[in-house]
Amino acid sequence: MPEQAFAVVGFFENADALVRAASSLRGSGLGHVEGYTPYPVHGLASALRLRRSPLGGMVLVMGVLGALTAILFQWWANGIDYPTVTGGKALFSWEAFVPVMFEVTVAFATFTAGVGMLVLLNRLPFFAHPLLSSPAMAQITRDRLALAIEAERSAALDVEPARAALISAGALACEVVPYPVPLPRLAAATLGRLAASIGAACLVSGVLMYWSVKLFPVLPPMVKMLDQPRLDAQHGNSFFADGRVDQLPAPGTVARGFLPYDVASAEEAQLLANPLPRTPEVMAAGRRVYRTYCLVCHGALATGDPLLSKAYGAKPANMQSPAIRAFPDGHYYDVIMRGKNAMPSYAAELSADERWAAIHYVRALQRAQNAPDEDLR
Ligand code: HEC
Repeated sequence: MPEQAFAVVGFFENADALVRAASSLRGSGLGHVEGYTPYPVHGLASALRLRRSPLGGMVLVMGVLGALTAILFQWWANGIDYPTVTGGKALFSWEAFVPVMFEVTVAFATFTAGVGMLVLLNRLPFFAHPLLSSPAMAQITRDRLALAIEAERSAALDVEPARAALISAGALACEVVPYPVPLPRLAAATLGRLAASIGAACLVSGVLMYWSVKLFPVLPPMVKMLDQPRLDAQHGNSFFADGRVDQLPAPGTVARGFLPYDVASAEEAQLLANPLPRTPEVMAAGRRVYRTYCLVCHGALATGDPLLSKAYGAKPANMQSPAIRAFPDGHYYDVIMRGKNAMPSYAAELSADERWAAIHYVRALQRAQNAPDEDLR
């Protein structure tokens, strides 16, 4: 069999001659034209009409697909297939899905980048480019500038027309690069022996392992707590119709002490009355809540002199001012529930009783700073 040529390489005098030849050879139809230079040559990429890589677009599309896959899967798994309430949140709580969405986006994008670049765009596995082991490459990596006309994927290369085209485009000399001699393929018998010996080794070590564990039982650790009769959260259970241990809250019910705050507007909130009596215990609880949550911003006497640094920026309200003293208790409650401008909501941190107790305590602070004569008698 005559040796098949992979490419004809032509060497050029200088970079200008190379770029000129590249544009004239590009459309010649003789084969794939490729440039090889020891340093980047300006204009060569555009003369060869190298496309911008589509990899960025592929990665973007797959990344978005990854994010969608993740959010849809979590919505289905958490909200439909196996609805589980976590921390009292709604079944579709997209904020909780973000970490997984991020991970899946990154996974889709990186695998696309890796596989897309190596397999689709770089056409691997192509373990050694035939040119790499040629004498031509030894010269190119030193100081020569070259253009190669290479065989297209399946077509054979016509050496003579390619050589003539390179010479007429200005090449000083040409070199023909053959396909490398393929390595001998592994014989089926060798592969069979390899598989048989790996199989035998697995079998022998498996049997040995099994009997050594059987014959020399290790003492179990203290397993009394593991062995007790109980229902695990994610296990099955024959008591309920749906067979689950984890039950969803019965429809229309709320947890004790967690009545939803369904006051529509700040005006409506004005009508709320403080349900707690002003006992020493309630005052003590209110003081504890105030000193834990409110004092940093509103100050020990509720005058709005914060302990926070100037960096906080906002000016906490002075609760000793006549305007704020005049607000009814319900308004205070509403501010604690919803927050106001720079003041965050304390709905999640405090129970209803703690909020009302804090309001009693604020009232006591206000009265202490504005005591009328009767109070002093
Ligand atoms: C992070 C700082 C901060 C904390 C903590 C804080 N507040 Fe405030 N609070 C503010 C700021 C700032 C304002 C002024 C908001 C505005 O009017 O723009 C304010 C305003 C108020 C007002 C007046 C609302 C109005 O309508 O003018 C009340 C009442 C109040 N806070 C009560 C509390 C109570 C009770 C707590 C503790 C549970 C608390 N705040 C915790 C920063 C805070």
